[in-house]
Amino acid sequence: MSVSKRQKKRRGGKPSAADGADPHALYEEAVQSPEADIEFFLARFRQHRSREPKSLREDFCGTAYLCQRWLAGSDERTAVGVDLDQETLTWGRERHFTGNGLAARLELLNRDVLAVTEPRVDLTCAMNFSFCVFKTRPELLRYFQAVHAGLVDDGLFVTELYGGTEAIVEIEDERELDDFTFVWEQKRYNPVTHEVLCHIHFGFRDGSVLERAFTYEWRLWSIPEVKELLLEAGFSGVDVYWEETDEDGDGTGLHHITLEEENQESWLVYIVAVK
Ligand SMILES: C[S@@+](CC[C@H](N)C(=O)[O-])C[C@H]1O[C@@H](n2cnc3c(N)ncnc32)[C@H](O)[C@@H]1O
Repeated sequence: MSVSKRQKKRRGGKPSAADGADPHALYEEAVQSPEADIEFFLARFRQHRSREPKSLREDFCGTAYLCQRWLAGSDERTAVGVDLDQETLTWGRERHFTGNGLAARLELLNRDVLAVTEPRVDLTCAMNFSFCVFKTRPELLRYFQAVHAGLVDDGLFVTELYGGTEAIVEIEDERELDDFTFVWEQKRYNPVTHEVLCHIHFGFRDGSVLERAFTYEWRLWSIPEVKELLLEAGFSGVDVYWEETDEDGDGTGLHHITLEEENQESWLVYIVAVK
């Protein structure tokens, strides 16, 4: 995850909250829900395979927060985290794997996910839409083939996708957390390529802002494109799990398997591919 340190200072030159902010910590708090993801992985694995998964690979792992929660859940588990950004991996190793005995069961690989097929694992995940960095069909197919090759014979792959009528408009969506505001900005959408440019900003009570803490240049893939490419890569079946929403349109964290849904301003799905 490349981190930009562009920060606005408060008047008077005093250090602002944005100056002291740690973008990785803010990102984890605002964006990630590893416990809920792991609960979903376990339910799907037990349903398809009637056994417990032991080994996990987290692609695009960033700070490897999910690996940490996975390892903390059972002494029998192992994890491999893969990310291109060494600075983020180092931050994650120090924050999540120091002094807790978990590092012995963790492998962090500073590599391209396209190039990793070993060690073979029970479960591979790619969360928060990260595979959208692959912008062409051959490239995404290559990634799914690498995932397939890196799974044991009865392995499972779980990933996530977002979309909806609001996913392709230029908007800023703000969400209040206890000590800061999370801002998701969709800056640009190109209808010809379906590429999007998005930024994450963090705002603080003192008025300071950590601008463009993270930037993503993605191709916004559709669900059928992803399903077709997973099948082409060799997976035997692919299911889409739709997140249910409450009356305000907010996600509930509950998902059902689906073939048809009403269009929504914004949706988020888990996609489960069975080897
Ligand atoms: C959106 S962050 C994901 C962070 C975290 N895993 C999550 O679920 O929120 C995307 C991460 O993917 C990494 N990345 C991008 N392209 C990659 C590639 N080809 N191979 C490995 N990592 C990659 C970036 O360095 C960044 O840390």
